[in-house]
Amino acid sequence: MFRFVREAFRDIRNTGSVWPSSPALARAMTKGLKKIDGHRRVLEIGAGTGPFTERILRHLRAGDRFDIVEMNAAFCSSLERRLLAPFRSRRSGIPVVLHESSIERAQLDGPYDLIVCGLPFNNFPPSLVRSIFRTMLSLLREGGELAYFEYAGVRTLKAPLVGSGGRKRLKGIATVGKSLRRQHQGVQEFVLTNIPPALATRLCKSNGVVVKRKRRTKSKRKPVAIS
Ligand SMILES: C[S@@+](CC[C@H](N)C(=O)[O-])C[C@H]1O[C@@H](n2cnc3c(N)ncnc32)[C@H](O)[C@@H]1O
Repeated sequence: MFRFVREAFRDIRNTGSVWPSSPALARAMTKGLKKIDGHRRVLEIGAGTGPFTERILRHLRAGDRFDIVEMNAAFCSSLERRLLAPFRSRRSGIPVVLHESSIERAQLDGPYDLIVCGLPFNNFPPSLVRSIFRTMLSLLREGGELAYFEYAGVRTLKAPLVGSGGRKRLKGIATVGKSLRRQHQGVQEFVLTNIPPALATRLCKSNGVVVKRKRRTKSKRKPVAIS
């Protein structure tokens, strides 16, 4: 906990929060794991101090493989010491690989059945958000699940504080989210018991066909395909 707060003050843009996620949010983010039959390939991005990692490890079974991408060296050494080394000594037959890297640079070998992403997208420019989602979707198998979260109402709360450039950036991120939910059957779950309350979104990768909704007369915006 102390490590997370310290890293948040050192690098708030990439850490994105001052508190790790709660067990309730971890439950919402990892629901997809139970639904996959057979051997599962799981990828977690932005593990931090590991609330989602811990839950995923608890539910892994023989034949599964788990990759974790985290760019912060302090979080990586904490994950390795507290969670991964003890897991490997108990369950040596299940490969769990920690990649100390940003997702933009990680060398990964998909496809995965489930991707659980803890990245703070509301701190990033929309072009980076789009490119990270493109990467994640390319690593996901058809029909696989991609879960991510954001703090509830965060863009509305930030908007008055950030100036017109910032508002444009937040609007761009909201548009990416809407487009993804539309293309990939997004399901959202509000998690009150998190600090702050959060919205978990689970996407099911579909074949890239964009289902165009009827154009509203007022809006000229077209759906943006991210696949
Ligand atoms: C909001 S924290 C979430 C941590 C943890 N999953 C949780 O829910 O408590 C975001 C995490 O993503 C990591 N991160 C940020 N940008 C990243 C990137 N481009 N690639 C990989 N990890 C990144 C940060 O270092 C941080 O650990």
